[in-house]
Amino acid sequence: MCPDAPVAPHTSDRPDLAQRAARALAGVETGIAFSLLDGSPDCIKLIELDGSLSYMNPGGLCVMEIEDFAQVADRPWSELWPAEHRPLLDKAIRDASEGRVTRFEAFCPTARGTPRWWQVTVSPVRNTHGTVERILSISRDVTDMVTARRQREEQARILADEVAQKDAALARQHVLLGEIDHRVKNSFASVVALLRMKARAHRGDAAGMALEDAANRIATLARVHEQLHLDPGSSLIALADYIRELALDIGGALGARIELLPMPSVQIAPSDAAAIGQILAELIANAVRHGGRSGHAPQIRLAMAQKAQGLSLVVEDDGPGLPEGFDPEAGTGLGMQVCSIYASQLGGSMSAGASDQGGARFEVLLNPPSLQGDGAAG
Ligand SMILES: Nc1ncnc2c1ncn2[C@@H]1O[C@H](COP(=O)(O)OP(=O)(O)OP(=O)(O)O)[C@@H](O)[C@H]1O
Ligand SMILES: [Mg+2]
Repeated sequence: MCPDAPVAPHTSDRPDLAQRAARALAGVETGIAFSLLDGSPDCIKLIELDGSLSYMNPGGLCVMEIEDFAQVADRPWSELWPAEHRPLLDKAIRDASEGRVTRFEAFCPTARGTPRWWQVTVSPVRNTHGTVERILSISRDVTDMVTARRQREEQARILADEVAQKDAALARQHVLLGEIDHRVKNSFASVVALLRMKARAHRGDAAGMALEDAANRIATLARVHEQLHLDPGSSLIALADYIRELALDIGGALGARIELLPMPSVQIAPSDAAAIGQILAELIANAVRHGGRSGHAPQIRLAMAQKAQGLSLVVEDDGPGLPEGFDPEAGTGLGMQVCSIYASQLGGSMSAGASDQGGARFEVLLNPPSLQGDGAAG
């Protein structure tokens, strides 16, 4: 038996099989037929060419929950089915009476109303002259299989709905975040413009310089924010990409050349990246401000590496170097204070010394809790 084959192999089409069958069945045809009918769990029916039901096997009566065959005897077979399937059944009967086999899957409740799905084969029964005399219909109960398939389809549909809802929420968040980004940028720009206006009013005096300084710091803060490119779909950002873009932006704004050494690929939370951005912005600003030699812009080198003690960030220049006895913790400058506050916030510390080129070298060792990465220098 090959139930899933599009067309079942016919014994009559195989002379070798036909001969064997004829020999084996000789004299016991009826007995064999009864055994097959009685032993099958499928619902097997014999249908007259006019579509009326002339026989249903015991297994069929059982699965169809029909107590007595007399209830359905001689009734049109198609009437046992829901009305919407009747055209399909009538066609199957017509096709079988013309010698063709039909297979289909359809829903039909039992006589007691129990819902059931059936896989049905309708085929011609020929007499010894090859003429179609009756129709055989075999219905297999596939309710469990269809229920499981429908459950899978339903689960897939629910999943697809959830994904679509999440996509829509993400798209909304993108728009919202873009709007927030835009507003933050505008707010930063307004504050910088206001401070610069005030600085111009106090041009030449100490208040003017302090205001100009404040404006520059806020402009840097805006750059640190702008380069974050927050993605609502991911909670972490690629630190190397962020540092590269920030260095390019700040370098461009301050007219400095910044060489970036190869950096490992590590991921970090945006808030930690923003803190690292603040530290780098201060160190780069210092290199530009204090690291130039007789009017020459300093050559600044920036490196990031993963070390046993933590994530190392180095900013060095080829300027005159740090003043004698320099202690980054001791000064009154805002830059060093900003660096050490953010460094301790990220579980680290900062050290200062001389670079290979004779300039200043700052190294910040950090242990940001959000850090994830392979640590391989790339
Ligand atoms: N790259 C550098 N080269 C030489 N000296 C430096 C360098 N970076 C910092 N310094 C020294 O360290 C001091 C403290 O730096 P800090 O950034 O704290 O203050 P600042 O730059 O003077 O002022 P601000 O408060 O505007 O940052 C500087 O005044 C400078 O003497
Ligand atoms: Mg400074």
